[in-house]
Amino acid sequence: MRSDGMDQARALADAVDEGRQWDRLMTLARIGAIPGNGVNRQALTALDREARRLIIGWAEDAGAQISVDAAANLWLRKEGTDPAAAAVLTGSHMDSQPEGGRFDGIYGVVAGLEVLSALQDSGVRLRRPLEVVAWTNEEGSRFAPGCMGSMAWSGYRPLADFDEIADPQGVRFGDALSEHLAAEADLPRRPLGGRPHAYIEAHIEQGPRLELEGAHIGVVTGIQGSRWFTVTITGASAHAGTTPMAVRRDALQAAVRAIQALNDLMADPLDRLRFTIGSLTVEPGSSNSIAGRVRFTIDLRHPDAAFLAARGDAVEGTVRSAVGQAEDVAITESFNAPPLEFDHAVVAGVVAAAEALSLRWIAMPSGAFHDAQLVARVAPSGMIFVPSHDGVSHNPAEFTTGPQLAAGTRVLAAALAAHADTTILS
Ligand code: GLV
Ligand code: MN
Ligand code: MN
Repeated sequence: MRSDGMDQARALADAVDEGRQWDRLMTLARIGAIPGNGVNRQALTALDREARRLIIGWAEDAGAQISVDAAANLWLRKEGTDPAAAAVLTGSHMDSQPEGGRFDGIYGVVAGLEVLSALQDSGVRLRRPLEVVAWTNEEGSRFAPGCMGSMAWSGYRPLADFDEIADPQGVRFGDALSEHLAAEADLPRRPLGGRPHAYIEAHIEQGPRLELEGAHIGVVTGIQGSRWFTVTITGASAHAGTTPMAVRRDALQAAVRAIQALNDLMADPLDRLRFTIGSLTVEPGSSNSIAGRVRFTIDLRHPDAAFLAARGDAVEGTVRSAVGQAEDVAITESFNAPPLEFDHAVVAGVVAAAEALSLRWIAMPSGAFHDAQLVARVAPSGMIFVPSHDGVSHNPAEFTTGPQLAAGTRVLAAALAAHADTTILS
């Protein structure tokens, strides 16, 4: 940032309103509120649409134009002095985990919105347009995998790939998306895809490091890789009281053997690998019926591409040999996001913004995946983390204070302003 640009960036950061941002977050947290201060707001539901209408109203107050693309990604845009220039982009997601908190995802959208409001209030004029996006279905908890909106937008996977994926109630993604787009038919449509000048996503850390190290800001250097699998084991449901043990085709017992073998496969003395079976369903799910079908998910993560590839590629063989011949096994991989290093200039811009605002920062990788991992395929990208109290996330107790959130948004504002060329005002 040159000094005149720095002044503009600082003026924009200074116009970030901590109280307004907090009030918006708390208003949104009432939509889908669950006990313990949590939120359950799934993608493409009526609750999602209610929350989006609030965001849209606030964005219009800030002088932004609204649009929606074919993946239902929601876009808020404020023009710069050069409408032909590629936009500087920020955003995150608005869907939550089933037992989620008030900040995961929605903070990045509200922070972007706060920058739009700060632009409106401060009179700072950027050369480039500033856009805020709310990506569709990042969590992957209603429709797996996550990051569908950013995958489709970035061209990583075609949108039509997701049509047949069903939620736990059997609703197809394609149908939920059509219903959603019909409910937002009053909003202008924009093409799916684009080439922003840069993307910066603000997010809560979701881990304990910033708090433990007394830092205000995490300058995110990259994201570890993730692979998701679904394993379906099919045996035969039969009477629990009459079927001899030797002839059973018990899908749950086979799943137990498979999971034990996977635990052995995933052992990592360095404790860098993350292996989670977060969902397991048993059919027919009756005490006195042998399990005929079991389906479970695998979430596997590691910062090293070769390590992740080796362990992930061994999943199928490990499960098949543990299950044996009596039951059928089907394994699908629904998500494969390789580890990513963020753009060095964007990372340096976040550092410069944190320094200019006299905030303590540390550089750190992200253990969680984020839409930024997909956006980075088409635009120089980076992320800003703010502390998570006790490192808790994907839990109703997730908490970050208003001042901590505002500090992250000020860094976001200053970093976005630097990329949007405040120095070249007409
Ligand atoms: C995102 O929610 C993740 O699971 O990392
Ligand atoms: Mn998130
Ligand atoms: Mn999440």
